[in-house]
Amino acid sequence: MSKFINNDSIICDDDQRLREKSLDVALPLNKEDRELLEGLYKYVLDSTDPEIAQKDNLSPAVGIAAIQTGVKKKMLAVVIKDSEGKIIHEYALANPKILSYSLEEAYLEAGEGCLSVPKYHEGYVYRPRRLKVKAYNLLTDQEEIIKAKDYLAIVLGHEIDHLSGTLYYDHIDQKDPFKVKKDAFCID
Ligand code: NI
Repeated sequence: MSKFINNDSIICDDDQRLREKSLDVALPLNKEDRELLEGLYKYVLDSTDPEIAQKDNLSPAVGIAAIQTGVKKKMLAVVIKDSEGKIIHEYALANPKILSYSLEEAYLEAGEGCLSVPKYHEGYVYRPRRLKVKAYNLLTDQEEIIKAKDYLAIVLGHEIDHLSGTLYYDHIDQKDPFKVKKDAFCID
């Protein structure tokens, strides 16, 4: 049984736990950790299904990290669907580690959002356009090397940031939130 997670489980950025560094989890995952990671995955998977989201009190999301439920462990889930609702990327990761990243950056034209940040912070968040991440993926039960690019790299970058207590708006230039870096790749 996966742990049931909905919006009542999620802590917001007035809670200092979101600023703490998450800790490695032991592999193979014990039952409690596995059920939490399954629950994180299920939240993200179901969050973009309007009927389930309404019934279970979920908000549309592409990723979530364990610390957002107050659990200081290096686990996160990502589910990215195309415009027809077909899954194009899905991960339920433990102990993700960035092996390398590109100097070339990318950003979302619409800015970023976060389940733990109720207030919208406008501005561009520049992140590496490419990330190489090593992690244990519960969905395949294997350690994997993920080569992420563009949107997936941004989503993974955002979630991995949570594990070190960083929130997306930390990256926004306060004096010039929409400063355009001309070499950065814009994703709309
Ligand atoms: Ni977030």
